[in-house]
Amino acid sequence: MSIFIFLSLLGFLRFTSEAASAFSFTSHSCSTSNGTYFEPNSTFQANLNVLLSSLTSNASLPDGYYRTTVSASSPSNVTGLFLCRGDTTPAVCQSCVAAASMEITRRCPNQTESIIWYNVCMLRYSNRDLNPLVPYVPLGNISTIAISERDRFDAVLVNMLNDVTGKANTQTGKKFATAEVDFTSSETLYFLAQCIPDSSNSICYSCFRSAIGFLPDCCSGSKGATILVPLCNIRYEFYPFYNRAVVSSEPLVPPTSGSRNILLLVATLVPVLVALALLVVGCCFLRKRASKKYNTYTFTEDSTGIDLSGIESLKFELAAIEAATKKFSDENKIGQGGYGAVYKGILANGQEIAVKRLLATSLQGALEFTNEAALMVKLQHRNLVRLLGFCLEGQEKILVYEYIPNKSLDKFLFG
Ligand SMILES: *[C@@H]1O[C@H](CO)[C@@H](O)[C@H](O)[C@H]1NC(C)=O
Ligand SMILES: *[C@@H]1O[C@H](CO)[C@@H](O)[C@H](O)[C@H]1NC(C)=O
Ligand SMILES: *[C@@H]1O[C@H](CO)[C@@H](O)[C@H](O)[C@H]1NC(C)=O
Ligand SMILES: *[C@@H]1O[C@H](CO)[C@@H](O)[C@H](O)[C@H]1NC(C)=O
Ligand SMILES: *[C@@H]1O[C@H](CO)[C@@H](O)[C@H](O)[C@H]1NC(C)=O
Ligand SMILES: *[C@@H]1O[C@H](CO)[C@@H](O)[C@H](O)[C@H]1NC(C)=O
Repeated sequence: MSIFIFLSLLGFLRFTSEAASAFSFTSHSCSTSNGTYFEPNSTFQANLNVLLSSLTSNASLPDGYYRTTVSASSPSNVTGLFLCRGDTTPAVCQSCVAAASMEITRRCPNQTESIIWYNVCMLRYSNRDLNPLVPYVPLGNISTIAISERDRFDAVLVNMLNDVTGKANTQTGKKFATAEVDFTSSETLYFLAQCIPDSSNSICYSCFRSAIGFLPDCCSGSKGATILVPLCNIRYEFYPFYNRAVVSSEPLVPPTSGSRNILLLVATLVPVLVALALLVVGCCFLRKRASKKYNTYTFTEDSTGIDLSGIESLKFELAAIEAATKKFSDENKIGQGGYGAVYKGILANGQEIAVKRLLATSLQGALEFTNEAALMVKLQHRNLVRLLGFCLEGQEKILVYEYIPNKSLDKFLFG
């Protein structure tokens, strides 16, 4: 009898310690939308309480994601969501969301918007539209890679991050993927990428590109890194930080016949977009060369370090682009893609260019844009359509390509 009690006690202890160690707090951010706080016992407070309990109860469902708005009177509307890591069981997801709900009210007692991340779940709420890309949190592992290994490490990262984010983006249910690669015979690198499931592929793509763009600043040389963006996150480490058993048992792309063609399309589109981006920066160098009478800039496949030097030389003046495209006139417009409109233009020196004017909402901020451009320069290895440079002035985010008169340009610009 006493042994039985002892054994069940042991079982109980093990159970509780497993549940407790199943998730841990990572980071949080409280903010007030434009300096407003909510009052205790206000309608907002009541709505927030309803929201948090509705999120917690929905966390027991297998989706691992739920978003809802509680509205009573207009200024008190509150929208919130949670996202559990793709390999999390509903039970752990719910415990994590419940803990996050309590912790967020403790850490952000009267803020009108807040976000909190645990290792396996994220929860946020706001009284206004949720900005998908802000705030973001970069976390670098303090262990660093040996200098002699840096170049190879960066090259592996770039390849694997493109793979894993592309894979996550082509999933139909949870936009979640993991990947592994043997870095040395004894060391394996583990990667994870996840995006909010009901977002479009293009917004997830932008989010992943931003997240990767933050890496040079926060985590250059780190053996591991986590980039938390509200809409998406990426992580890599030299140890399996996700549940490999769950992940490996899931089919990569569920081959449902109806959606198959779309999946294929997306699967081909994403690499094309990446390739396109790669090309963009390469062309900038050509322009630079042309104007500088062939200096010795060369970017080869094996130059993989990430740094921002050289980026300035890729910049085009907005005025020059406006002059070339007659201020983005309809007459010069040659197409419209998911990421923005494309114009034909002629530079003052007579060179024909294709100008892609990115939608303000489809891309990240200036810093990320340049980081991304820098990364692409380093990544570039195949000149499909040459990227001559970019322009970043005010709200404008523009990519400048060499103009190719035949059809092949369309393929790259519009997928
Ligand atoms: C914040 O408040 C200021 C002044 O009250 C206003 O001019 C500005 O538009 C507000 N910004 C937002 C994002 O609501
Ligand atoms: C909120 O309401 C409760 C019950 O109505 C009351 O006991 C409490 O003092 C109120 N708190 C504040 C800060 O007004
Ligand atoms: C999910 O939340 C909604 C309210 O947003 C609620 O009506 C519904 O019952 C919840 N579902 C579960 C399973 O708790
Ligand atoms: C708040 O919710 C109500 C009811 O759904 C809606 O009519 C109103 O436009 C919302 N207000 C804001 C600022 O979104
Ligand atoms: C709530 O907001 C007010 C500002 O309106 C601030 O002074 C106060 O410290 C906040 N209360 C708590 C508990 O953080
Ligand atoms: C940092 O990396 C080391 C070596 O891979 C690992 O043991 C450690 O757990 C990592 N730290 C975090 C916070 O993931």
